[in-house]
Amino acid sequence: MSNPSLIEQIDTVVEKLSIAKSVVVFTGAGVSKESGVPTFRDKDGLWQKLKPEELANFNAFLKNPDRVTEWYSHRRKIMNEVQPNPGHYAIAEMEKLFEKFCVITQNVDNLHQRAGTKKIFELHGNLERNYCIKCKKLRDLKGHYSSTAIKCECGGLIRPDVVWFGEFLPQDQYAGAVAAAENCDVFFSVGTSAVVYPAANMPIYARQSGAFVVEVNVDYTELSHYANITLLGKSGEILPMIIKKLRV
Ligand code: OAD
Repeated sequence: MSNPSLIEQIDTVVEKLSIAKSVVVFTGAGVSKESGVPTFRDKDGLWQKLKPEELANFNAFLKNPDRVTEWYSHRRKIMNEVQPNPGHYAIAEMEKLFEKFCVITQNVDNLHQRAGTKKIFELHGNLERNYCIKCKKLRDLKGHYSSTAIKCECGGLIRPDVVWFGEFLPQDQYAGAVAAAENCDVFFSVGTSAVVYPAANMPIYARQSGAFVVEVNVDYTELSHYANITLLGKSGEILPMIIKKLRV
C-alpha cells in the first residue's frame, strides 16, 4: 500500500479535529522561520554560528554583560521588525474554533501574541520583558537597543526574562502547560526539533494521555516516530490548509 498523500493526512487530522473538544498547539522556532526569525539547530540556525554557553547562560552574562546584552538587543530588534506569518495567524484562528485551546511555546519572540493568540504558556520566557537581577523590577526596553550592558537605578544589571541554560522553567507556565498537554484530544507539535527538555516532554505527555499527536515540520525529528502523524511542510502553508478545511 502506498503512503498517504499530504492531503489525505490533512483530511485525517481535520477529522480528528472535528470531534475534538480540547486542542493544544506546541511550537518552536520553526513556526517563526517564515517571518524571518532564525531557528537554533537548522543548518543556518543560531547555534551553528554561536555558542549557547557564551550567550544563553547566567555566568556568561555576569562575565561579559556587554556581549550578552548586545546579542539579546539584536534579537529583540529582529523580532520587532518582523511580522507574524500565516502559521501564527492560523494558530490564532484555531483558538476561536475549540471549546478549550491553548498554545504552549518555546519561542520568546512574542509573535503568537501579536497574531492574536490569547491563551499561551511561555515555557522559555519572552524577550519583550526585561528585569533587574538585583531588585527584580521589570524594565521597559521598547525601542532601546544597546551594545553595552544596561543598568537599573539600583545598580543591578538588566537581563531579558528568558530561560537560560541551567535555569528552571517558570513553574506556573510549566505546570499549566503539562495540565493542558495531559488533557487534550489533539496535540500539535509545530516547528520544533523536540530535543530540549523539559519542554520536549509535552508531546510525550499528550500521547501518553491518549491525545492524537500531529507533528508539523519541514523535516522528520526525534518526535516523528512517536507522533501519530507527521505533516511534512512549512507551518505557514500547512496550518492555513487545515484551517481552510475546518471552516468548510
Ligand atoms: P530548533 O532550531 O531546534 O528547531 C527548529 C525546527 O523547526 C526544526 O525541526 C526545523 O526542521 C523546523 N522548521 C524550520 N523551518 C520550518 C517551517 N517553516 N515550518 C515548520 N518547521 C520548520 O528550535 P526549537 O525546537 O524551538 O531554548 O529549539 C528549542 C529550544 O532550543 C529553544 O527554545 C531555545 C533553544 O536553545 C532556549 O533558549 C532555552
